Amino acid sequence: MAASELRSLPSSASNCASGVGGITIRPMRIRDLGQICHLDRLSFSLPWPESAFRYELVDNPHSFILVAELKQPDLTTPLVGVIVVWEILDEAHIATLAVHPEHRRTGIASQLLLEALKIAITRKAVTATLEVRSKNVAAQELYHKFHFQVVGHRPRYYRDDLDDALIMTVDLRQVDAQGHSYLEMIQELARPRRGLALS
Ligand SMILES: CC(C)(COP(=O)(O)OP(=O)(O)OC[C@H]1O[C@@H](n2cnc3c(N)ncnc32)[C@H](O)[C@@H]1OP(=O)(O)O)[C@@H](O)C(=O)NCCC(=O)NCCS
Repeated sequence: MAASELRSLPSSASNCASGVGGITIRPMRIRDLGQICHLDRLSFSLPWPESAFRYELVDNPHSFILVAELKQPDLTTPLVGVIVVWEILDEAHIATLAVHPEHRRTGIASQLLLEALKIAITRKAVTATLEVRSKNVAAQELYHKFHFQVVGHRPRYYRDDLDDALIMTVDLRQVDAQGHSYLEMIQELARPRRGLALS
């Protein structure tokens, strides 16, 4: 992403939290590279090299990256989550999403996904897609909550264990029977939980 476009993202995409124990969702910066690569290595058997994150951040005009920053009682602010989105015409492709193992099941991935989808919708995306390992039940559960559905398989897609990839997609223009937009439907899913303070 060009620096100018990076600046055009909301500086705190989420106003989810700002107090101690709170999460702030914000665009990734170059100085975050080390922490994000570490987080990626903790999260995936085939982590991205630093050059891949650097490319997405600096050179790819069709990509944006959000990170989740945790405000700790000692006032340090480690990065505990990341999402990379490729904007391909009217599709938002979730290229990667990871949360630090010590901070999972507290709603951080949900907040990252919500904020990324809000940006994508603002930029006129009409669908979101992703690939997920068939064995990755945790991620599939998360995506199902956000109304993603499996629309295809890529057999033996992952080169380490030859797991299949499931292709999941969601229609960002959908409206439910009560007239709620997609964003209204998913808003509640990204409520901070388990001690994550609201601002
Ligand atoms: C998948 C991942 C991103 C989820 O992050 P998270 O911050 O723990 O997710 P959330 O707390 O927002 O969870 C939201 C919902 O997802 C589902 N979910 C998350 N982790 C789950 C698990 N281990 N088992 C079952 N469901 C799970 C649940 O429905 C959960 O809601 P609940 O806690 O109210 O039951 C995280 O486990 C991770 O980083 N995994 C390794 C990397 C990865 O697999 N990324 C996805 C690549 S496609």
